[in-house]
Amino acid sequence: MKKIAILGSTGSIGRSCFRVLDQLPGQFQVVALAAGGNVELLAEQAAKCRPEVVSVANESDIPRLRELIARAGGPLPEILHGPAGIRQAAAHSSLDMLVSAAVGVAGLPATYDAVKRGVNIALANKEVLVVAGALVTAAARESGAALLPVDSEHNGVHQCMRAGRHEEVRRLILTASGGPFRRTPPRDLENVTVEQALNHPTWKMGSRITIDSATMTNKGFEVIEACWLFDLHVDQVDVLIHPQSTVHCLVEYVDGSLIAQLSVTDMCLPIQYALTYPARVTGCDLRLDLDELRSLEFERPDQERFPCLGLAYQAMRMGGAYPCVLNAADEVAVAAFLDRKIPYLGIARTIATTLDTMHPAAPKSLDDILEVDCEARRVASSLLATSQLGAATPALVSAS
Ligand SMILES: NC(=O)c1ccc[n+]([C@@H]2O[C@H](COP(=O)([O-])OP(=O)(O)OC[C@H]3O[C@@H](n4cnc5c(N)ncnc54)[C@H](OP(=O)(O)O)[C@@H]3O)[C@@H](O)[C@H]2O)c1
Repeated sequence: MKKIAILGSTGSIGRSCFRVLDQLPGQFQVVALAAGGNVELLAEQAAKCRPEVVSVANESDIPRLRELIARAGGPLPEILHGPAGIRQAAAHSSLDMLVSAAVGVAGLPATYDAVKRGVNIALANKEVLVVAGALVTAAARESGAALLPVDSEHNGVHQCMRAGRHEEVRRLILTASGGPFRRTPPRDLENVTVEQALNHPTWKMGSRITIDSATMTNKGFEVIEACWLFDLHVDQVDVLIHPQSTVHCLVEYVDGSLIAQLSVTDMCLPIQYALTYPARVTGCDLRLDLDELRSLEFERPDQERFPCLGLAYQAMRMGGAYPCVLNAADEVAVAAFLDRKIPYLGIARTIATTLDTMHPAAPKSLDDILEVDCEARRVASSLLATSQLGAATPALVSAS
């Protein structure tokens, strides 16, 4: 049995991971779980899969978690908390695979430690590569750890890349649904509501990634992740809107052949692929009904409607710690938008101004990165607090 740890077990990806494990009985043993504050669900999961270690974000949640696990009839695991807790949960000595699905930089140090130890990673957490791509991929090369992407687009690319050699790849095309504002005139975006932005047409996900999908910052993050995962220049990664969300990616080879990956919009499939790679198994048995498919449309994203996508390309071209600044500014701005403190377009303005304001040195260590992350959050928060963002849409940056 493969021993796995799941960081972010109570989130959208974490819950889908349990659905996959339910379909693969006897193949995986969950030895550690880490979550934030949803102790009810964490206790349920712990009672069911009986891990040796469980970690929560806050120490104050431990007594309740202990009580809930006991009430659910599970044996008591070692219960840890905070940044050290999540790191220890991933440090289990006989781990075969780490599912990295905590949201935000909270999961980064634990994932980086595991990569350095040579543990294979089923990677969902964006920040790991957006913020620390150079460091993490260098560590993976050295240790031999496989980074198996869980994100549906990268998971698709990973599959399509099995059709040719790296030097034969001309470019990747990542698809995007276009989100709820695909047809909204740019002048109307200032007044869109949180509810409208959270109403994603095809995927059910956590709130931050749902807003990031509406702005297409998420697609920008995926462009950055793709560069690191597949060792490509940013100009080799393209984005197309594909409203059906059926084709997750295409890989164009030098001879002009395009290899695409199609599947249903259910994260269980990429999670299962990452967990069982290189084998393909029936497991969740998610089949795409081609008879139901009426059309496959593709269009270029409108840069005026999706300024955050261009900002992500800009951050990757600037290099060094700028993608880390991009991510931190976005996280601060999305939280402010969800709290109804800034309008929707304030997200793009916060990112653009934070990128312009900061001049971080190229990071050499995780500590350097975490320092830039803190500083970018401070800068973005103070821009928001002092309303230094103006009302204009940020200057457009070419997305390709
Ligand atoms: N959902 C998708 O379809 C999808 C697709 C591709 C990539 N991703 C990426 O995968 C990651 C997870 O996404 P998601 O949609 O599953 O997010 P989510 O539903 O918001 O879940 C986030 C998870 O992280 C946990 N968490 C939050 N703060 C934590 C902390 N300080 N320490 C430990 N755990 C903490 C949460 O715990 P509590 O709930 O207990 O607070 C929860 O388990 C993100 O980076 C996202 O961008 C998601």
